Amino acid sequence: MKGLLILFVLMNLGKLPRTGHCTETRDQILSITPTTKEQVDILKNVSTQYETALWQPAAPQFIKEETEVHLFVPANSSETVAGLLQKHAITHEVLLANANELIEMQTRNDSTDPRSGSTFYERYHSLEDIYYWINRTQQDNPATVEVILIGSSSEKRPLYVLKLSMNNRPNKKAMWIDCGIHAREWVSPAFCLWFVRHSLSFYRQNQDITHILDNMDVYVLPVMNPDGYYYTWTTNRMWRKNRSVSKRGGCIGVDLNRNFDANWCTEGASDEPCTEIYCGEFPESEPETQAVADFLRKNKDTVQLYLTIHSYSQMLLFPYSCTVEEAENHRDLLEMAQEAAQKIRRYYRNNYRYGSGAKTIYLAPGGSDDWAYNLGIKYSFTFELQDRGRYGFLLPPSHIPKACNEALTAAKTIALKVIEKT
Ligand code: ARG
Ligand code: ZN
Repeated sequence: MKGLLILFVLMNLGKLPRTGHCTETRDQILSITPTTKEQVDILKNVSTQYETALWQPAAPQFIKEETEVHLFVPANSSETVAGLLQKHAITHEVLLANANELIEMQTRNDSTDPRSGSTFYERYHSLEDIYYWINRTQQDNPATVEVILIGSSSEKRPLYVLKLSMNNRPNKKAMWIDCGIHAREWVSPAFCLWFVRHSLSFYRQNQDITHILDNMDVYVLPVMNPDGYYYTWTTNRMWRKNRSVSKRGGCIGVDLNRNFDANWCTEGASDEPCTEIYCGEFPESEPETQAVADFLRKNKDTVQLYLTIHSYSQMLLFPYSCTVEEAENHRDLLEMAQEAAQKIRRYYRNNYRYGSGAKTIYLAPGGSDDWAYNLGIKYSFTFELQDRGRYGFLLPPSHIPKACNEALTAAKTIALKVIEKT
């Protein structure tokens, strides 16, 4: 008995991360708040020169004093990074000490058939599974779901949009939702699936979704950046951009949310292909951007509401992000976001900030929301889903239901308002 106990303790000791001054064997997420100009510069340097992934802010240029930085530090550079922070007396907090375990948890599909079962929507899914789900959803709902191929990615993967249409009322309006523009934001595609399931299962049961679907068709693009998403499942969980190969230099990927034609590549974006916020060669240079833009241009007379889903930080944003100027219907947009945030607070006890993008986070030109707004879709929102940094992009699957339900509440609140106003 005693021998067994000792054996057990020894076995578990082996599993613990080795800490201390020598080696740190796990990937970590650090929260660091620089307090001086010097510390800001060190952090900018660390996040660009070392093998790390900056989670927050989106690019090193936005790092400033007294603002929290979230940094993913892979095991192989953790010693060096820790040394640098210590040397410059930069205090930090470990948000996650063992990110590897979380990543492993997220790709594990424990049911025998990953494509079925009641917990399907409470898990993350590979791109292959999502394509299968799209097909299956159409086959199971032939009268109400149509699959539209709107284009293909730079690595030639198809971009499918689901059209949910419950009736043939003349002059019916529509809303658009896209997910997965940024590859590592896994809860985003999960939300698109969640939204479709809710629509199809609760039409004629839930009053709000029934009213919405009676008055609007819904276009859902579950994964706008399939190449990037695939890459996060196979190679690098922290990838953000698409996977197109730049003509100059060896770097890969364009930030699709900087590639739209809205003050393209001005302050808040970068023309440097190696950065996370690279705007691309020219507006709509990327096939993913072009496919979405073309589709919306073709349907701009019916689409009245544009929603794009990101994570993380819990915010409901609206135009503009490409300028600090106010949108012409700013008051309407503010009111809608406020009501949505209030409902989330009341029903889910969670706080979402809201406001125009430029004033709530930072200037970010070339975004899809601003572009759609300028096209004439006057109700245009970017949702940033859970959480606030505790798990960041690695939100555990057990959090999917609450994260999606609160965003669903916001989406429904706003859609109802749009129907009321138009
Ligand atoms: N986190 C998002 C990004 O950096 C924010 C998007 C807000 N809207 C925008 N047009 N930039 O892309
Ligand atoms: Zn994003």
